Amino acid sequence: MVTSPPATDPDGLPRLPFRQPDLLEVPPEALDLQARCPVSRVRTPTGDTAWLVTGYDEVRRVYADDRFGMSHRSPQTAPRLGASLLLGGPNGDFDTQPAERLKARARLAPYFSPKRMRAFRPRVEALTESMLAAIEAAGPPADLHADLSVRLPVTVICELLGVDERDRYRFREWTQGVADVSDRERSLTALTELMSFTQDLVARKRAEPGNDVISALCRDEDGTIPDGYIAFLAAMLLFAGHETTVVRLDHAILLMLAHPDQRTAAFAEPGRLAPAVEEILRVVVHGGVRETLRWAREDVPLGDVTIGDGDLVVLYSAAANRDAQVFGNPCEFDVSRPPRPHVTLGFGAHYCLGAPLVRMELEAVLSRIFTRFPGLHLTVPMDRLEARREVLTGGLAALPVAW
Ligand code: HEM
Repeated sequence: MVTSPPATDPDGLPRLPFRQPDLLEVPPEALDLQARCPVSRVRTPTGDTAWLVTGYDEVRRVYADDRFGMSHRSPQTAPRLGASLLLGGPNGDFDTQPAERLKARARLAPYFSPKRMRAFRPRVEALTESMLAAIEAAGPPADLHADLSVRLPVTVICELLGVDERDRYRFREWTQGVADVSDRERSLTALTELMSFTQDLVARKRAEPGNDVISALCRDEDGTIPDGYIAFLAAMLLFAGHETTVVRLDHAILLMLAHPDQRTAAFAEPGRLAPAVEEILRVVVHGGVRETLRWAREDVPLGDVTIGDGDLVVLYSAAANRDAQVFGNPCEFDVSRPPRPHVTLGFGAHYCLGAPLVRMELEAVLSRIFTRFPGLHLTVPMDRLEARREVLTGGLAALPVAW
């Protein structure tokens, strides 16, 4: 993978993003910071200063502490991670955002419960089967990124939300635009278009309800939830529900290709795949700039430092998942490691609502792909795979394989 050289900072602060010489590994600079100072001052790509949290305990402490929020008292001047409107800076009103988030979570949670997701599992498995069959029928080579890692999460979230087949790839342009690292104009246009798309979607579901989450939200509370609010929830789900998963699917396949011994172990007996998926989620590195962001709502002591009111805090989960205080041989990919929760999907009251869905998609793919294609291999060396640098969520541009 080609990575940009480390930028030097006039104040001597480490500058994000760190150089990542190995696609499957956390940047050495992040692990070095973790060993020396798990809460460190860094410079973001926008030139702002932030606190980078790389320690496992510290990351969980920030997640669990309401004095760290997603909004900022003065959003216009708040420190940012990137230009992207939605992902680069604070969101929502300082006074109401914490309660709004809880409300949104409570509204959505029933539709993504483990029970609902179990009922949806056969559909996810059937979709995976048919996508793999299509890849096989088209014959080698194939780009698993486009033909599987993008198609599956997009199809799954669109089926859940009731997005028509013809619209499924239109919204992806916008979600990628929203995540643009440097082009604020593109990010703004994309967000406007995404919102207009979800508003049309809600209007359609009001007129012709279906068996999907948006139609159900339209019916909830006797149909009194405002359309604009449902459109906002839909946009949030379209965004949260696919790009993150695309990146992890690519990396899960790569990890298994790079570690045939671990692949064998993951399938050695029934019941081994689920812990293997947890280990994959622990070690995946998305390569993007996007991390979980918080802004201190008051002065808060954390480890050896005090985070100042209004400061930006960047939770670097990939480094926290390799904290040697918590995980033995933390940089080793070991599917039989004793279970210990990672922080890839967040923690506590902020834990990812899509977690059961993500696990299901990873299991559906991994349990099938290597039996259908026992000779699956990359057609380019791992270090020539192209990373996507223009979007905060990172990931690969392509995953070229043959079998
Ligand atoms: C591997 C893929 C995924 C990863 C790594 C991931 C990661 C995360 C993380 C770290 C958070 C906490 C964010 C924060 O507190 O600032 C989160 C929240 C969330 N995720 Fe995911 N996610 C993934 C897939 C999904 C999917 C498929 C959905 C679709 C339903 C989803 C829906 C959500 C929602 C709605 C929240 C907000 C929860 C809240 O605010 O309480 N995620 N996710």
